[in-house]
Amino acid sequence: MSRIAYVNGRYLPRAQAAVSIEDRGFQFADGVYEVCEVRAGHIIDERRHMARLDRSLSELRIARPMLPAALAVVMRETISRNRVRDGIVYVEITRGAARRDFPFPPGIRPSLIVTARSNDLAKLEQVAAEGVAVVTVPDIRWGRVDIKSVALLPNVLAKQAAREQGAREAWLLDEQGRITEGASSNAWIVARDGKVITYPLGQDILPGITRSVVLDVIKAQGLAFEERAFTLEEAYAAREAFITSASQIVIPVVAINGRPVGNGAPGLIAAALRRDFHRHAEVS
Ligand code: PDD
Repeated sequence: MSRIAYVNGRYLPRAQAAVSIEDRGFQFADGVYEVCEVRAGHIIDERRHMARLDRSLSELRIARPMLPAALAVVMRETISRNRVRDGIVYVEITRGAARRDFPFPPGIRPSLIVTARSNDLAKLEQVAAEGVAVVTVPDIRWGRVDIKSVALLPNVLAKQAAREQGAREAWLLDEQGRITEGASSNAWIVARDGKVITYPLGQDILPGITRSVVLDVIKAQGLAFEERAFTLEEAYAAREAFITSASQIVIPVVAINGRPVGNGAPGLIAAALRRDFHRHAEVS
């Protein structure tokens, strides 16, 4: 089955789906994106993802390419045309195409791309059951990583460094030796006293949608938690660690820079948060 992408008003086979070479997403990474989980054919936490998309657009003063209700239709149509039951839907909006010049071109129309693809759920469950390794790399990103922009080069380099060391994710270390987040996920530890800890919202991390739902699950389970920075040393000493993102929900971390976390097996709290996640997420 050929895969279909939505590009600026048309549903096209992948091979024919293209934007201009003068698209500012291509030339300046002048664009934003969202990744939503698709589960049993439904979009998970669409409202929160669309609110974050709206905020990213506002922060960068990129115009909305269509009304939210129309975008919701395009996302569903793209999911359906690609026959995705379990997977992700990807939305990218760039400032648009214009002759290359740094300032915002006047009268430019934003570009909109929507794609969808299936995930191998069984494989993901196996990853969650086994846990993953992470390695740390310096956080060399810009000062507004709360905006979900497509300027992901530091994240690409971090993830590649992880892969080359046999790890699935890279954790980003700031100059104070604190872990901000993962290259494409939020980072969490469970301290020795059982408290769940993750970096606070602000301009240093992406406000993960999975992160916010996991906080709801944590509250519902009556767990102690704290939104504060934690150091690499604290992570080494933690009882558990895990990562969260829309495409993989909660994944236990069993090794950091080659050192086992806790007893080196996936933790019970991570497993419980993963188990209860979809009871708290919104389905639409
Ligand atoms: N990544 N932090 C970063 C840097 C991310 O890129 C992501 C998501 C997250 C988790 O956010 P959420 O829970 O809303 O997915 C945190 C997506 C999945 C990606 O780039 O593919």
